Amino acid sequence: MIKIAPSILSADFVNLERDIKKVSSADYLHVDVMDGCFVPNITIGVPVVKSIRKCTDMFLDVHLMIDKPLRYIEDFAKAGADLLSIHLEADHPTRIAEALKVMGECGVKKAVALRPITAAEAVLPYLELGVDLVLVMTVEPGFGGQAFMESQLDTIRQVRAIIEKYNPACELEVDGGIAPKTAPLVVEAGANVLVAGSAVYGKEDIPAAIAALRV
Ligand code: DX5
Ligand code: ZN
Repeated sequence: MIKIAPSILSADFVNLERDIKKVSSADYLHVDVMDGCFVPNITIGVPVVKSIRKCTDMFLDVHLMIDKPLRYIEDFAKAGADLLSIHLEADHPTRIAEALKVMGECGVKKAVALRPITAAEAVLPYLELGVDLVLVMTVEPGFGGQAFMESQLDTIRQVRAIIEKYNPACELEVDGGIAPKTAPLVVEAGANVLVAGSAVYGKEDIPAAIAALRV
């Protein structure tokens, strides 16, 4: 089954509770945390995740675009995240593995994310550590509303093949430029969780915009 994960990066932060309620027909709520170092943008942090947790029962898919994420795993878990994605490029592999271990101890689902530059094979050791989800970026992380990178379709296909071989229960999420035109392409390539910010919050009829992504 295809899951849709609206990204609140494109929501109205002054009316965040209202905008979260508008996407209740979706499957996950995607929360983009950016630190101004790993990516050239700053968004939200632990206190906001804690407040979001109080206003929704949706599955909180928290995408950490931050350097050295190990420092904050416990805090985001305590704030109420259901899943944490950390970027493979954000620290030394031993500390990425340690961060995944801490996620397990905190009872949150574990995910690794790949920038477009990172090769699919980089996920292999982490699949063997039992990650629940791999996130393949289909834009350079940092901003909503960018154009989908078609060159990432190959990476999605390769990650899907690796998942099937080593950990078939693992989900494959894509993030960036997902819209009704690109959704069928990523699903055909093997993605099963689709993040969408502008294609959801940029539309008048939000439930219809979510339905339009279910291919
Ligand atoms: C970008 C974020 C995305 C962003 C996607 O770095 O990780 O989640 O909100 O926005 P759209 O769907 O507009 O490309
Ligand atoms: Zn994201």
